[in-house]
Amino acid sequence: MRAVTCSEFAPIDRLTVEEHPDPTPSAGKVVVAVRAAGVNFVDGLFVQGKYQIKPPLPFTPGGEVAGDVVAVGDSVTGVEIGERVLAMPWLGGFASHVELPAASVVPVPGALSYGQAAALVQSYGTMLFAFTRRMQVQAGEWVLVLGAGGGIGLAAVDVARHLGARVIAAASTADKRAAAMAAGAEATIDYEADDLKARAREIAGGGVDVVVDPVGDRFAEPALRALGWKGRYLVIGFAGGEIPRLPMNQVLLNNRTVVGIDWGAWTLREPGASQALLSELMELAGSGALSPTEPSEYPLDDVVRALTDLQDRKVGGKVVLVP
Ligand SMILES: NC(=O)c1ccc[n+]([C@@H]2O[C@H](COP(=O)([O-])OP(=O)(O)OC[C@H]3O[C@@H](n4cnc5c(N)ncnc54)[C@H](OP(=O)(O)O)[C@@H]3O)[C@@H](O)[C@H]2O)c1
Repeated sequence: MRAVTCSEFAPIDRLTVEEHPDPTPSAGKVVVAVRAAGVNFVDGLFVQGKYQIKPPLPFTPGGEVAGDVVAVGDSVTGVEIGERVLAMPWLGGFASHVELPAASVVPVPGALSYGQAAALVQSYGTMLFAFTRRMQVQAGEWVLVLGAGGGIGLAAVDVARHLGARVIAAASTADKRAAAMAAGAEATIDYEADDLKARAREIAGGGVDVVVDPVGDRFAEPALRALGWKGRYLVIGFAGGEIPRLPMNQVLLNNRTVVGIDWGAWTLREPGASQALLSELMELAGSGALSPTEPSEYPLDDVVRALTDLQDRKVGGKVVLVP
């Protein structure tokens, strides 16, 4: 098997792709031949040692995969060789094969491609958790999504649309704004060129009800100021670089609420509730109620280019590695 290896916390271009013996599954485990591995912003942070959790070295990055079960260990029930599955191993996914607990693999829902399945759970899980567990988006509400052409952004647009909300998509390029429109946004803002607060308030006819912020940095304050009466601000991430400092008077005004979203920690601390959310997500994706966009594909050997393009804001939507 081939696997991406991170031997030191260093710039992304120090990653290597190495050969290892094929895994044979131990009891209770299965081996999945990876057809697509979802690439997330957080993978770049992991390998550079910039994430709050630092895995022991060396390690193979890659938090989500889709593929075919090619071997099952003793005492495995309910998983068959040849089954199309997805899983969230957290690490180890950037490889041709991955050994996983049988209980952690889930059938690929409906007619989703391997790419769509591999790129589904982190971004859609986060947004379904945010919109339905940490607060409740109501039908007809205006939702302003920052970084709307990115992985979290497009998932936010799709889930908000599914819940009946009206979406304003803010993104830096025409391609990313077009992708957000295709995912269900009603209006867009070029937040590099336009006045984010003024345009959002103008489109919503007053303040927006919800801000989804995976970007932070200089966009956070105008987005907070765009919120109307009892508006909710969802803190998702800081892809823009700087963790913003927000004026508290802007939270007090209009009875606004700032809501922290840490989906990963929640899945570990509340596994039962997280499993229920995952089942709900699989049903929504399988029935076509949600429409994840097809990701951009990079060969496994191009892992450095894939992570660099994502980090440099060059790709819209999700990215997958194909071994
Ligand atoms: N809280 C949680 O539970 C959770 C879960 C998953 C991910 N996250 C976090 O959410 C953030 C976004 O993840 P993602 O998967 O959506 O990433 P992504 O696909 O790379 O999208 C991030 C977007 O941020 C925007 N951006 C603005 N300035 C940027 C900069 N300097 N560098 C890179 N991007 C910049 C880009 O859109 P424009 O070019 O349009 O500005 C880009 O499309 C990350 O910080 C990630 O760690 C949090």
